[in-house]
Amino acid sequence: MPHPDHEKNRDAWNEMVGVHINHPEYRTEEVISGGCSLKQIELEALGDVTGRHLLHLQCQFGLDTLSWMRRGAVVTGVDISDESIRRANEIKVRAGLEKAEFIRCDVLDLIGVIDKKYDLVFQSYGTHCWLSDIHKWAKVVSYYLKPGGSFFIVDDHPIKVLFYKPPLNYFDREPERTPAAPDYCDRNYRIKGELVEWQHPLSEIINVFIEAGLIIEHVGEYAYTYYKEGDGYTERNDHYWLPPGGLSTYPMMMSIKARKPR
Ligand SMILES: C[S@@+](CC[C@H](N)C(=O)[O-])C[C@H]1O[C@@H](n2cnc3c(N)ncnc32)[C@H](O)[C@@H]1O
Repeated sequence: MPHPDHEKNRDAWNEMVGVHINHPEYRTEEVISGGCSLKQIELEALGDVTGRHLLHLQCQFGLDTLSWMRRGAVVTGVDISDESIRRANEIKVRAGLEKAEFIRCDVLDLIGVIDKKYDLVFQSYGTHCWLSDIHKWAKVVSYYLKPGGSFFIVDDHPIKVLFYKPPLNYFDREPERTPAAPDYCDRNYRIKGELVEWQHPLSEIINVFIEAGLIIEHVGEYAYTYYKEGDGYTERNDHYWLPPGGLSTYPMMMSIKARKPR
């Protein structure tokens, strides 16, 4: 049965895609005409993807998925939002990358929907907060990896919530429910539905992958972030820095690279 709060997020993301797709932050037309939306962190982490089968979880309208394909990967993108997948399928045709596969599905319900295993599972920038059950998430990742395959995530560091104004509880078990939230690209746009987000402490994120049988190879923490979260940020080298030009005193992003044993 679909998770009721995930379904609320599905509605919200169906709405947000229309705001994002033409927003300069996403550079959609540039990617369609040959540009790459991937950042240095994930490019270095996954290295040469030529001929590798890559599953991209929470792909939105697929710009990163298609960028991996241009670098030689055989790609499948998955997202809960109908509108994301509809747009991803339009964009792949315009980009001449028709062989990319896009599937609408809740990540937590994915087992059994795709009948294939992957060398790489990837997800990035704004994903784990939408998942109500990260134990289930790690099982999905592990299920879809071939023995010897790698998982890589780069995303918000959960400690960030302590620096919100007002701060949130790092260990909160209840989801954060935000009606009429401002869109993260267009802050003047208010999302009609309610957003439901979950807080997952870093130890828990690491532990669910260990429990799912993966070997953690590297954990990264970064003193900068991936989008302009408010006033006072400067953009440099693909990232946003606060204070301008400086390093944050707390980690704003984290990454995990893990491998499924052979
Ligand atoms: C911030 S975007 C991240 C993707 C990518 N970095 C980007 O910016 O295009 C989050 C994505 O997660 C998707 N999502 C949210 N909850 C999901 C779920 N339970 N299963 C699959 N996708 C989900 C949303 O539809 C959205 O496309």
